[in-house]
Amino acid sequence: MERSMILAWILVLSSTVVLTCCRSYYSDSVPYVSAPKKVTHLHFFLHDTLTGESPSAVSVASSNITIFPDHAAVHFGSVLATDDPLTVAPEITSEVIGNAQGLTVLASQHELSMVVYLDFGFTRGEFNGSSFSVFSREVQDGDRVCRA
Ligand SMILES: *[C@@H]1O[C@H](CO)[C@@H](O)[C@H](O)[C@H]1NC(C)=O
Ligand SMILES: *[C@@H]1O[C@H](CO)[C@@H](O)[C@H](O)[C@H]1NC(C)=O
Repeated sequence: MERSMILAWILVLSSTVVLTCCRSYYSDSVPYVSAPKKVTHLHFFLHDTLTGESPSAVSVASSNITIFPDHAAVHFGSVLATDDPLTVAPEITSEVIGNAQGLTVLASQHELSMVVYLDFGFTRGEFNGSSFSVFSREVQDGDRVCRA
């Protein structure tokens, strides 16, 4: 009898301990307050060089299906690897502040349309160490390049 009373007390005490510790695990819900928006304007020049002695974008895979009959070099499904320098001025000789690395896929069978993935990384200046990524479609309409 005495033994079962002790056992009962142990059970009551342990459930109290469990309840006490669990109660502090929860907290009241609080409404979400978003942080104030911060806008940063970045101004740089990207140099994408496809030809010459040291191109910054090279074809790494290609199909034999041309998109336009008169442009034998433009193949549907081509993949280009890119490592474009980012500079502070339009001249390629101006200060390099980072690079844009990624891939371009010629993804349309009927028009010059590309799906581009680029990671812009900064290696100098105020944003040294920062990066952002762009994954988007780029459609060429005559001489215009339209980015979506
Ligand atoms: C592309 O290559 C494949 C495999 O060699 C061939 O069967 C096909 O006819 C080629 N297509 C064109 C448009 O040349
Ligand atoms: C840019 O950041 C890297 C790593 O944080 C550092 O090693 C390098 O010295 C920095 N470069 C400049 C020009 O500040």
